[in-house]
Amino acid sequence: MSEVQKFKVTIDNITIEVAPGTTILEAARKIGGEVAPPAMCFYSKLKGSGGKCRTCLVEVSKGSEKDPRPMPKLVASCRTTVMDGMEVKNITSEKVPDARAGVVEFLLLNHPLDCPICDQAGECHLQDLSYEHGREGTRYEFQKRVFKKHDLGPYIQLHMTRCILCYRCVFTADQLTNKRVHGILDRGDHAEIATHIEKALDNDFIGNVIDVCPVGALTDKTFRFKNRVWFTKPVDAHRDCPTCSGEVQLWMRGDEVFRVTARKDEWGEVKENSKGETGWICNECRFEKKHIHDWTIEGPSVINRHSVISQGHYVGITKPKETVQEVIGKEPRLLMDIHSVSQVNKPNIDLSLINGPAHSDDFNHPNTNGKQD
Ligand code: SF4
Ligand code: FES
Repeated sequence: MSEVQKFKVTIDNITIEVAPGTTILEAARKIGGEVAPPAMCFYSKLKGSGGKCRTCLVEVSKGSEKDPRPMPKLVASCRTTVMDGMEVKNITSEKVPDARAGVVEFLLLNHPLDCPICDQAGECHLQDLSYEHGREGTRYEFQKRVFKKHDLGPYIQLHMTRCILCYRCVFTADQLTNKRVHGILDRGDHAEIATHIEKALDNDFIGNVIDVCPVGALTDKTFRFKNRVWFTKPVDAHRDCPTCSGEVQLWMRGDEVFRVTARKDEWGEVKENSKGETGWICNECRFEKKHIHDWTIEGPSVINRHSVISQGHYVGITKPKETVQEVIGKEPRLLMDIHSVSQVNKPNIDLSLINGPAHSDDFNHPNTNGKQD
């Protein structure tokens, strides 16, 4: 049997070979690190997702080997498949940062700036994106949208003002449950997540909408306002569950289990479980098993995302892949490597090897002569 022909694609000067039909975003994720564009609506585990938010815009500077003309406009990388010989610019593009800043500005037009009280703060993709691409202020002069409150039942809290209409939760309900009872009602400025006539979301697997929501629009009522995510320690654990694989992440403080979620990968998506299936978890594991004795603890979770959730978890941390150096051919002045770049910590102290949170003695501080110790 002849081997399937592969397409060569170059993204930010790095060339890889991928199967025909692969999207630019999937190809960029294969390279990894900063080369992979951010994605707020695409979710590789959900069929049909993507194409809604435009945060994944990239520049195609060469269409293909056969037709080398550049694409006239930036394209959504989650919906554009690669061609043989295609050349794509993401972090090397001059146009992309500006376009992405525009997209972020649009996403924030109606989004409340309530990160200090939002349960998603610290693991919110929109928060990360606005730090990376957002403007300092808003040019929007009008009142932000408000909505009539909908009660989605005992487990899931909806904050419609934070929703970016990515449709991920709708695809999740469609693809994981036998009867979807929520969806997006109305269109344009009036579009909103609702159940039409007040219904509770109570399917056994519906809690997964919390994990896929990229912002704080759908949060866990059993965790709400109980703690901040950066004060909790993520720990991998499992139990013998008759409904799902029972492989979860516990968010603990001391011996107390504050929250149970599915395990996530470096893109913030639910990971595969040990059986090779997507590790969606059931409502019972997520909402009702909040006692340490319900679980067999496997050990600290590996955190491999650039995010506040990686702070304070020095042991077990895997640094996310960084590709900037490979792309620009020299070491950038500022990476998130506090040890070798910032010189904030004492040179003989490697923060990643400290067991537990760092102490003030681990950092440089001016002595009485005004010099660094
Ligand atoms: S509630 Fe969350 S997952 Fe659902 S459409 Fe809004 S932002 Fe997306
Ligand atoms: S991730 Fe591509 S359009 Fe949203």
